[in-house]
Amino acid sequence: MSGVTVGEAGRKNGSNAALFFRRWMANPLQMGSVVPSSPALCRRIAAQVARGPGEAVLELGAGTGVVSRALLDAGVPPERLLVVEIVPDMAEHLRSALPGVEVLCGDAFDLGRVLPERWHKRIGTAICGIPLVLLPIAEQRRFVQAVEAVAPGRGFLLYTYCITSPLPHGELGLAARREAWTPWNLPPASVWRYWHDDARAHS
Ligand SMILES: C[S@@+](CC[C@H](N)C(=O)[O-])C[C@H]1O[C@@H](n2cnc3c(N)ncnc32)[C@H](O)[C@@H]1O
Repeated sequence: MSGVTVGEAGRKNGSNAALFFRRWMANPLQMGSVVPSSPALCRRIAAQVARGPGEAVLELGAGTGVVSRALLDAGVPPERLLVVEIVPDMAEHLRSALPGVEVLCGDAFDLGRVLPERWHKRIGTAICGIPLVLLPIAEQRRFVQAVEAVAPGRGFLLYTYCITSPLPHGELGLAARREAWTPWNLPPASVWRYWHDDARAHS
């Protein structure tokens, strides 16, 4: 890597961090974190992604796009990556930072409307960066239902700083598994997978 490239990468990371921090100051609950996810965490998330032919990867709460970038680096083609971000100036940033990626500015809890219909039932993996742990269970249930409506049976990945499951998965009718953990994030973080557990949902 040349000195010039390192300098550009450094400036980009710096401006990402500055944008992230400004949004955290404006709405800490919506951001859930002071700094973007680390490269180590982003790589661990990307390693969990699966996608069939004709399917896309859906990222919810893309922020400054660090996870999106790791997904592209891991081989997800830009035209098969859909990202949803609720904050308009972050969505604007994502559009210029991620050429070819479909950036949707809207509420992930309203995915049925936010996601263009041509992608409904064509999601291989949904990834959630929204701080769900802070929400009441009724809101968490609404999120689970929103994902299920567009990606039936696929469940979702959720990254978190919690040591145990950030969602009360039994109460939500979900099965859960911690797929990965890294100490190389501030703070250390895990990647959880949730999917519908029919036995629990009908008990
Ligand atoms: C913890 S940050 C994650 C950002 C980035 N993916 C990362 O790992 O650094 C959470 C992001 O979710 C966005 N967000 C929060 N609630 C949302 C919602 N209901 N719909 C879409 N995005 C949301 C926030 O604006 C923020 O950019």
